[in-house]
Amino acid sequence: MKVFAHRGASGHAPENTLLAIEMAINMQVDAIEIDVHKVEQELVVIHNRHLHHTTNGQGRIAEKQFYEIRTLDAGGGQQIPTLWEVLALVNGQCGLNIELKTENIVESVFRQLQKAVSELNFQREQFLISSFNHHLLNEFKLKHPDWQIGALTASLPLEYAMFAEKLSAYSVHIDVDFVNQTFVDDAHARGLKVFVYTVDDEDDIEDLLHMGVDGIFSNFPTRSMIRIAHLKL
Ligand code: G3P
Ligand code: MG
Repeated sequence: MKVFAHRGASGHAPENTLLAIEMAINMQVDAIEIDVHKVEQELVVIHNRHLHHTTNGQGRIAEKQFYEIRTLDAGGGQQIPTLWEVLALVNGQCGLNIELKTENIVESVFRQLQKAVSELNFQREQFLISSFNHHLLNEFKLKHPDWQIGALTASLPLEYAMFAEKLSAYSVHIDVDFVNQTFVDDAHARGLKVFVYTVDDEDDIEDLLHMGVDGIFSNFPTRSMIRIAHLKL
């Protein structure tokens, strides 16, 4: 079972910062999950639409100028990073799951990832583009069919993982509060990987391992990896 560092090693450092990402790399995680928004023409790594959740700023990100948000403290003196700064730091040392948090970023994200494959040490297969906005995923997959997408859900849909199969997704990402054995079996029968968020509870890790889940998103990746290794013994 793979471990994704959720927003970097966000249990140990401010989420979605270069510090959290560097810690996750040092923990030798399988992959790192980050959230991406746009400010002017720049792609930036932050979870919420409003700045006050994770920075000392106020207001909506989309209404700011790039230089303004770069002066903010995202925790521990860290800046809000750009997507390119994260790509340069990770540099193919592990996988990267880019969650699209807003509209109108499909092509700019794609261009950055393509540049990372040609200029950095990334292979295309190390990237997984995910979103709760399935229209964005559909757009991405239609334009770039060779790239992997992961369809997010925060529910247990009536037709289980059918929505992800329709998108020709690589994986389906489901909330730990809703995943069950029927969903996992249905997704696997459709040829999809199942990744579950956000999992830090040791009992949940055990249940998910028994269900045959392919990966979890964890805020405490080392602890989760140790737990998985122990359960596999
Ligand atoms: O991608 C897994 C998880 O990050 C989705 O939810 O709100 O943490 O971005 P959220
Ligand atoms: Mg996310």
